[in-house]
Amino acid sequence: MNNFWSLFIIVLALANIAGCWLLIRWTAKPRPGEASAEETTGHVWDGDLTEYNKPMPRWWLWLFYLTIIFALGYLVLYPGLGKFAGVLGWSQYDAYEQEVAAAEERVAPLFADYAATPIPQLAENSDAMDTGRRLFANNCAVCHGSDARGATGYPNLADNDWLYGGEPENIERTIMAGRNGMMPGWKPVLGEDGVKEVAAYVYQLNGRTSPNPDLVEAGKERFAATCVGCHGMDGTGNQAIGAPNLTDETWLHGGSIENIRDIVANGRTNQMPAHADLLGEDRVHVLAAYVYSLSHPDGAAATPGANESQ
Ligand code: HEC
Ligand code: HEC
Repeated sequence: MNNFWSLFIIVLALANIAGCWLLIRWTAKPRPGEASAEETTGHVWDGDLTEYNKPMPRWWLWLFYLTIIFALGYLVLYPGLGKFAGVLGWSQYDAYEQEVAAAEERVAPLFADYAATPIPQLAENSDAMDTGRRLFANNCAVCHGSDARGATGYPNLADNDWLYGGEPENIERTIMAGRNGMMPGWKPVLGEDGVKEVAAYVYQLNGRTSPNPDLVEAGKERFAATCVGCHGMDGTGNQAIGAPNLTDETWLHGGSIENIRDIVANGRTNQMPAHADLLGEDRVHVLAAYVYSLSHPDGAAATPGANESQ
């Protein structure tokens, strides 16, 4: 607010209050020549109906004066007169922050309780999972979808197929610190033909028939020379660096021959943002349990995968 508008508001507000005061004074005074209580205003209705001209009762006037005193007091204490902040220093921002702090204090014991519960158990706590669902909708659904099933480039979190591992601590670390998947582009190294060959080979790794069967052998050699460092000898990937398994049905960037050629030629840098600072450890713990619950719908103990890893 610049000085002009600040002054404008001050003058307007005070002039209004002064105007009210003058109006009350004016109506309270008996008019000249009308001092007697028996005087009428001179208005006559229906032939004989007249109106006394009496000043307003004193107690009634005082009510009006009190509202004026209240208004002035308010304007001294609270912001209202242009840029003047009020002697109490109250502000909407502080009030908001205090409310947030109070809300935080209310839920903190609950989250502390959840934080002490191991993720597979927490995933079976329906109250905690309701909270997790809300946190997910607010913080994660923009990228992973409200059903967590992802989209091209954004992994499906409900299929128990993992880039970075599906153990509770993998999931928690992913959300806390974020992840950065880096697939280099290979066109400068392999050339267009080389890319075609290796794509023909990758395409058939999950049991499909390659559209270019005659390129598969050459592709296999190229794969062994350039790709195994990250995707492994057998193409099943490496969760430590988020290199996807190329032998299954799940494709992060689409599994058509064109999709595969494109990503092999041009590479991809994909980022999962870190949420530690944004949400704090306790909320991330609940979210990790929520994500875990999506691929373990019958509870951790019932899934063979969870038993194997114990
Ligand atoms: C800005 C978009 C974005 C947001 C917001 C986001 N993610 Fe992600 N997330 C990604 C991307 C992209 C990846 C894949 C990273 C990669 O390919 O290296 C990913 C990966 C993950 C993974 C690893 C999946 C796997 O297969 O290992 C998990 C778990 C995950 N996100 C959970 C969450 C949760 C929980 C939230 C909310 C707190 C969230 N994400 C918010 C974009 C996002
Ligand atoms: C430096 C490690 C590294 C090397 C070397 C590498 N990749 Fe990758 N690749 C990755 C990572 C990491 C991703 C996942 C990118 C992401 O998170 O979006 C990936 C993704 C892919 C995908 C997409 C998979 C999907 O699910 O959509 C294909 C296909 C692929 N790589 C093929 C290859 C081929 C073929 C080679 C060899 C020419 C190769 N990669 C070499 C790390 C590597």
